[in-house]
Amino acid sequence: MRIDILTLFPEMFQGPLDASIVARAREQGLAEIALHNIRDWAFDKHRRVDDEPYGGGAGMVMKPEPLFAAVEAVQELAESQAHVVLLTPQGRLLTQEVVEELAERPRLLLICGRYEGFDERIREHLADDEVSIGDYVLSGGEPAAIVLVDALVRRIPNALGNEASLDEESHTRGLLEYAQYTRPAEFRGWQVPDVLLSGNHPEVEKWRRRQSLLRTAQRRPDLLSRALKTGAVSEDDRRWLEEELETNLSDLA
Ligand code: ADE
Repeated sequence: MRIDILTLFPEMFQGPLDASIVARAREQGLAEIALHNIRDWAFDKHRRVDDEPYGGGAGMVMKPEPLFAAVEAVQELAESQAHVVLLTPQGRLLTQEVVEELAERPRLLLICGRYEGFDERIREHLADDEVSIGDYVLSGGEPAAIVLVDALVRRIPNALGNEASLDEESHTRGLLEYAQYTRPAEFRGWQVPDVLLSGNHPEVEKWRRRQSLLRTAQRRPDLLSRALKTGAVSEDDRRWLEEELETNLSDLA
C-alpha cells in the first residue's frame, strides 16, 4: 500500500511515522508513506496557501490552486491513481468498517486541512472522499491522518508481527475486547479470574466471549445493537446475555 500525505506541517508526522508498527512496516516495504508540503505548490511570491473567505467572516480558507497543483503532481509519482481523501470534521466518521474499505485501495492520498476550511471546489472536484475521526474539531487534519495511517498499516499482513492478534480482532469484530491479565496471578490482593489460570482453553474462550458481550452491552449499547443486526452475535450469545442482564435485547436490535 502506498500513502501520500499532503500537509502544511510535515514535521508533525515525525515521530508517529518513525516509531513502532508503522516504522517497521515502512522499513519492511509493507507500506510506502511519503510526505509532501502543500506550500511547495504555492505560486505567488508570498507562497500563500490560504485567503479570506468571499462573503466575509472570520478565519482563512485554503485556496484551490496550490492544492490542485499538489494533488496532480503527487498523482504522477506512482503508477496507480490514488483515492484522494480529505481529513475534515465534515467527513464520514472513521470506523473499523471504513478502515477496511480504505485498506482495499492500493494507493491513498490524504489531504490535511488547516485554517477554517477548504474552498468548496476542493471538496467537489479534487477529493474522492472525506473522513472525520470524531465529532470534535482539531486544529488541522494532521492528527486525523496519523490515526488513519496507523489503523490502516496495522492490518497489513505481517505488519503486526503477530497475526493472531488480527484473527482475534476479526473474531470479535464489532464488540469490545474482553479483559486481559498477565502475571502476577495476585496483585495487591486482586486476583486474576480462576478460569484464565485453569488451562481449559474452551472454557477460557467461552469466558472471553461472554466478557466481550457484557462489556459491549454495558459500555457501548450502540455497538451491541449493530452486532445483533449484522449477525456477529449468535443466538446462544444472545440468550446468555439476556439472562445475564435480565433484559430483552429485541428492544436494542
Ligand atoms: N480536522 C479537524 N478536525 C478533524 C476531525 N475531527 N477529523 C478529521 N479531520 C479534522
